[in-house]
Amino acid sequence: MDGNSTPAQEDSGPFGRPLFDKPSARALSRVGVVDVGSNSVRLVVFDGAARSPAYFFNEKIMCGLGAGMSETGRLNPEGRVRALNALKRFKLLGDGMGTGPLTAVATAAVRDAEDGAEFRAEVERETGIRLWVIDGREEARLSAQGVLLGWPGSYGLVCDIGGSSMELAEINGGTVGKRMSCSLGPLKLRDMKGGRKARKALIADTVARLRKELGEQKNRLFLVGGSWRAIARIDMERRGYPLQVLHEYRMTPKAVRATAKYIAANDLEELRNRAGVSAARAALVPYAIDVLREVVRTFKPRDIAVSSYGIREGLLYEQMPQQLRDRDPLIEACRFAEAKDARLPGFGRVIYEFIEPLFKSAKPDRRRIIKAACLLHDVSWRSHPDYRAEDCFDNATRANLGGLKHSERIYLGLALLHRYSNKREGSRFEDLYELISEQDATEAEVLGKAMRFAAMLWLRSDAKLGNLRWYPKKRKLELYLSPEAAALFGEVAEARFMSLVEALGAEASIHTARA
Ligand code: LMR
Ligand code: MG
Repeated sequence: MDGNSTPAQEDSGPFGRPLFDKPSARALSRVGVVDVGSNSVRLVVFDGAARSPAYFFNEKIMCGLGAGMSETGRLNPEGRVRALNALKRFKLLGDGMGTGPLTAVATAAVRDAEDGAEFRAEVERETGIRLWVIDGREEARLSAQGVLLGWPGSYGLVCDIGGSSMELAEINGGTVGKRMSCSLGPLKLRDMKGGRKARKALIADTVARLRKELGEQKNRLFLVGGSWRAIARIDMERRGYPLQVLHEYRMTPKAVRATAKYIAANDLEELRNRAGVSAARAALVPYAIDVLREVVRTFKPRDIAVSSYGIREGLLYEQMPQQLRDRDPLIEACRFAEAKDARLPGFGRVIYEFIEPLFKSAKPDRRRIIKAACLLHDVSWRSHPDYRAEDCFDNATRANLGGLKHSERIYLGLALLHRYSNKREGSRFEDLYELISEQDATEAEVLGKAMRFAAMLWLRSDAKLGNLRWYPKKRKLELYLSPEAAALFGEVAEARFMSLVEALGAEASIHTARA
């Protein structure tokens, strides 16, 4: 912890109060986090499912507090004014949204600037917000915790790039290991004297030193920070990648090299417009890409994943009791959505149990997606019927959720699309289907059609629907309906059942128990 922290904060961390009083609590009370970075100042208000908080509000202002600091040793004067104004606004927004006191952390620029302490005092005087100035190792730790929010049991190296620093932290099966901070922030590199040659030498020396301290780190490299996200957007544009979701976007070391060349070969202004990157971010991309190339060259990660979770999410994760951390963020978010938006909360589970025999050989990774689909099978009921199928697909594939690979987003989206529609051809999302295999698309169709049929059997929550028996080798599907469910098996239900049978390429028999 940093010497700047106030005694009250030292007792209970940056929030100054416990966020999750009961480990069994599944909902989070609204909370606001402010990240005063060297580049951007951001307010995030979290709300919703405790294990998978939703972004109730998210606003970023590119203040550039660290710009020009290498020369002056002081915060950028214009940036200081803009940051103070941003914090005044955030304070009011937090009050308006009922977040309680905002938790505000400040990183490299404020911690290193001569006038950092003075700025901190000014902020507190003018806004009442207490800046919690953290050191580089703490920044690395929090950022890595943020990654754990989305990938609970993961292994790898988290690399967080800010404006004036870069942090590395190792994660091992859910815990944060070695961590380091260095000065390879793109604002610093831009201000550096000596041209490209000196800059490259500094990058190479620094990364070599990090490698020496951290040892071999060949697992996944997790990228956190706005400059990495801008590079990922350019990588997407270069590849013509169809899904514009940054979280869980994957790159290979080879792709990083190709993108570095692509950046060098293209006009930056045109490139940033095509890729949808702001001017302020794009200006730092040429510096950041040199760092990324060196990090990748040195550590040789087996793959690279973008994380939109970082320090802000890390602050939340930090406060979670272990019991809550152990829950699956995806399932928790889906449960929450079901409770809030489905017509019959709890029916998702009934459907899951009913259709489960169709997926007996599914591995745990797939099973959780199937479960998620069932929980979400009815949350879009308010959409206009003509748009429901596409709305579902859109919601699932673009959801602001952790714990989902891009291919899993498409699988989930297709399953929900088929919950409402027999066919997927001709939809405006067709270019996204290429992100999953033909076999997975067919499985998602079976899942969707199974949910579509099961949703017809709407009974009291304690009633028995009956059951499905599936013999994959013989491709035989048997439907046994309980006496209560039998009367629900009308023409439409039967047509839906037959559509499922067809998707399975099966033969069916229907058995109705006598009442
Ligand atoms: C910062 O230092 O501002 C970073 O946390 C993130 C950014 O916006 O580059
Ligand atoms: Mg930062």
